[in-house]
Amino acid sequence: MKDTVLDIPAIELKGIRKTFTLSEDRDAKTVLALDGVDLKIRQGEFLTIIGPSGCGKTTLLRIIASLILPDEGEVIVEGEPVREPGIKRAMVFQTFGLFPWKSVIDNVIFPLMVRKFDAAEAREIAMKHIRQVGLDKFVDAYPHQLSGGMQQRVGLARALSTGADILLMDEPFGAIDAQTRELMQEELMKICQQEQKTVVFITHDLDEAVLLADRVLLMSRGPGRVREVIDVDLPRPRFDYDVRGHETFVKVRAHLWHELRNDLVEQRAEETS
Ligand SMILES: Nc1ncnc2c1ncn2[C@@H]1O[C@H](COP(=O)(O)OP(=O)(O)OP(=O)(O)O)[C@@H](O)[C@H]1O
Ligand SMILES: [Mg+2]
Repeated sequence: MKDTVLDIPAIELKGIRKTFTLSEDRDAKTVLALDGVDLKIRQGEFLTIIGPSGCGKTTLLRIIASLILPDEGEVIVEGEPVREPGIKRAMVFQTFGLFPWKSVIDNVIFPLMVRKFDAAEAREIAMKHIRQVGLDKFVDAYPHQLSGGMQQRVGLARALSTGADILLMDEPFGAIDAQTRELMQEELMKICQQEQKTVVFITHDLDEAVLLADRVLLMSRGPGRVREVIDVDLPRPRFDYDVRGHETFVKVRAHLWHELRNDLVEQRAEETS
């Protein structure tokens, strides 16, 4: 028998449109950020999003998280239309989003306390994820005492401790040095595979987009639309062989660069004409 629960997409976007107004004036300029985005994201899928700067990636992620509402269209999470943030979705931000005055454990425990978990149980859950990201020695440290990569791990542990099935990550490794970034990519892939998370992950880095993804969503330059969704058919785990040298990796990466490059060249031409 087919598993009907898994047939329901983790996230479904239907006709998402979003316009921003730049000021309160009567003749204020408006920006069409997203123009009709339709997409289904499968349960347990790792979807990366890539596209030129300003094409609406962050806007789309914020809409999926219900941090902002679309002007038109619908976000459906595991079969239910949503209009408010919920416990099935957790965000991880580029700038870590930690409370500087709270220790590592208190940052990770925070979403559980908000949800009125029993203190001992909350601590146990938080510690499990702190260990999972390798920060057990820094439980009582404060964010300013940690490196960027370590702070990002705290952000990840916090998102994991919410128990959310869906992780929404906006360039989470953008501010981390290249080597730490590779380790974080590996850790994230391990954790997501173990815990069957659905991940939507924005990046500017072509290698990262291909390395992590089951599918890559390529967005067109503003107003944002789905330009192409590309399958990345590479064996997992991807860190125990030379994935970057794999023919599929090289092909998908070259294709993405070709498409993005065209967009950037056109954008430059428009800006200078
Ligand atoms: N709060 C806002 N008010 C007005 N305009 C906004 C707002 N948020 C986004 N925009 C505009 O919407 C468009 C899409 O922005 P968004 O931040 O989603 O792009 P992005 O693809 O994430 O870009 P980047 O790759 O640089 O992070 C841009 O033109 C931006 O100026
Ligand atoms: Mg952005």
